[in-house]
Amino acid sequence: MLQIILADSELELIPQEIWTHPAVLRHSRKRSKKPREMLLDATYHHSALKGEDKKRRGRPDIVHTFLLLTQDSILNKKGKLQVWIHTRGDNLIWVNPEVRPPKNYNRFVGLVEELFRVGWVPTKTNPLFILERGVPYGEILKRAESLSRSRGRGVKKVVLSPVGKRVDLYEYLREFAEKDGEVKDLVLTIGGFPHGDYISNVYDLADESISISPDLLTVWTVVAEVLTTFRLAAGVRPWEEGEGG
Ligand SMILES: C[S@@+](CC[C@H](N)C(=O)[O-])C[C@H]1O[C@@H](n2cnc3c(N)ncnc32)[C@H](O)[C@@H]1O
Repeated sequence: MLQIILADSELELIPQEIWTHPAVLRHSRKRSKKPREMLLDATYHHSALKGEDKKRRGRPDIVHTFLLLTQDSILNKKGKLQVWIHTRGDNLIWVNPEVRPPKNYNRFVGLVEELFRVGWVPTKTNPLFILERGVPYGEILKRAESLSRSRGRGVKKVVLSPVGKRVDLYEYLREFAEKDGEVKDLVLTIGGFPHGDYISNVYDLADESISISPDLLTVWTVVAEVLTTFRLAAGVRPWEEGEGG
């Protein structure tokens, strides 16, 4: 099984310091919604951000694309994937593996704003997403580990980073194929930000950090590579029941 933690994702409500900025007010009027209830989105609020924040904050589109790729993947359909979203400000979004996120970006934004307001969507009894506040990255890693251990699996914790140890991803992931009836789970951390490095202490908590290409890749390219390569390396086949990974 593969678990992916999207760490330090740039998904947050508009911070109070910029509620009265003209760009934010303009967008708020257009959407007939209060700034405090809206997601920060660099497409609309770029001029309200300063310095390094301009290059990095307000990227719900990264989380949206991530979820479109993961939730519709063959690996997920075969029950071999669990994803966790960690956000700036230490929120955890738990994702029901059954969830199919809205394909439309504006609908996705509306759903996540409702999630920040209520704590679950669409209903408490049958949630697709649950938001928990005050959950740092290290705690999410522990939960991912205990999920694997409760299934009797060993775990390897790996961080993806352009400056990690260079690997051939397919060869590296062969370790997670079944050997003599034993299978290890992989808990993989990918950065949910477009620029800069992790804010959380991901490197301290990992077994190792790996790089999969000499190029600096976008988050969606990394996720696409990982989902298919893990499935092939671990021997998870679309037409067969319950084998591999
Ligand atoms: C767009 S990058 C962020 C850019 C940032 N400058 C950095 O150094 O990570 C977002 C995430 O994609 C992953 N990533 C991008 N290129 C990678 C590569 N060549 N090898 C491994 N992971 C990569 C990492 O998980 C990274 O945190």
